[in-house]
Amino acid sequence: MTLDQIKEAANYIKSKGVDQPQYGIVLGTGLGNLVTKIEKIFEIDYADIPHFPVSTVESHHGKLIYGLIEGKKVLAMQGRFHFYEGYTMQQITFPIRVMKLLEVERLLISNAAGTVNPDFKKGTLMLIDDHINMLPANPLTGKNLDDLGPRFPDMSQPYDSKMNGELERIAKDLGITLHKGVYTPVAGPNLETRAEYRFLRTIGSDAVGMSTVPEVIVANHMGLPCVAISVLTDECDPDNLHPVSIAEILEIAGKAEKDLTKLYVELIKRG
Ligand code: HPA
Repeated sequence: MTLDQIKEAANYIKSKGVDQPQYGIVLGTGLGNLVTKIEKIFEIDYADIPHFPVSTVESHHGKLIYGLIEGKKVLAMQGRFHFYEGYTMQQITFPIRVMKLLEVERLLISNAAGTVNPDFKKGTLMLIDDHINMLPANPLTGKNLDDLGPRFPDMSQPYDSKMNGELERIAKDLGITLHKGVYTPVAGPNLETRAEYRFLRTIGSDAVGMSTVPEVIVANHMGLPCVAISVLTDECDPDNLHPVSIAEILEIAGKAEKDLTKLYVELIKRG
């Protein structure tokens, strides 16, 4: 992906009327509830945007939603891209780079994840405080786009500490359980073996998923403050592991995302 392609996509979106959205939003699979809180101004199909990747699994959802939450301008991605679907890391992160050129100021991300921390129960939320990247490729591989950021971006504080603090205060105020921990993305699409869950816990992970970190890496590269929350959908206890039910994961995601929506709407309101 070249800078010209990113600019072309951003210019197209601007030409449709997207005007300096304050918040960019990327929602995890099955976590679309926040979109219903947007007072929609208009939407743009991914397929119409030059160079934009097009969703495979959620083709009917592949669009950018532009509108207002609590009076603030937001641009939300309905349908995100995963490595296991066959996209390159450059494709997965292309929309985030476009958001930066659209002058998005803050990026809010969510995902569904398994918990490997025995103290974190399924159905609760985890604020991602740090990560261990176990994806087999990196979006910054190749010639550096110097106009966007440095060759060797710092990752000492990948999740914005100010917004993380605000989210913790909001969770307290609203009586929502919000754990804080380390997220590890793997390639997928298979779930993990018992030995892999044990390994993930041993190396310091609290949750495991298949997304988010590529977007966080490019956001950090460009100096775009970001936060991410995991909806913990299944308990990955290697000594007591049951076959995972995707139906149950989706059901739990659907219930827990109400709290996720409240946290992000309140963050936007106070921000
Ligand atoms: N592993 C990987 N990704 C996931 C899981 C898991 O256990 N649960 C939800 N997403």
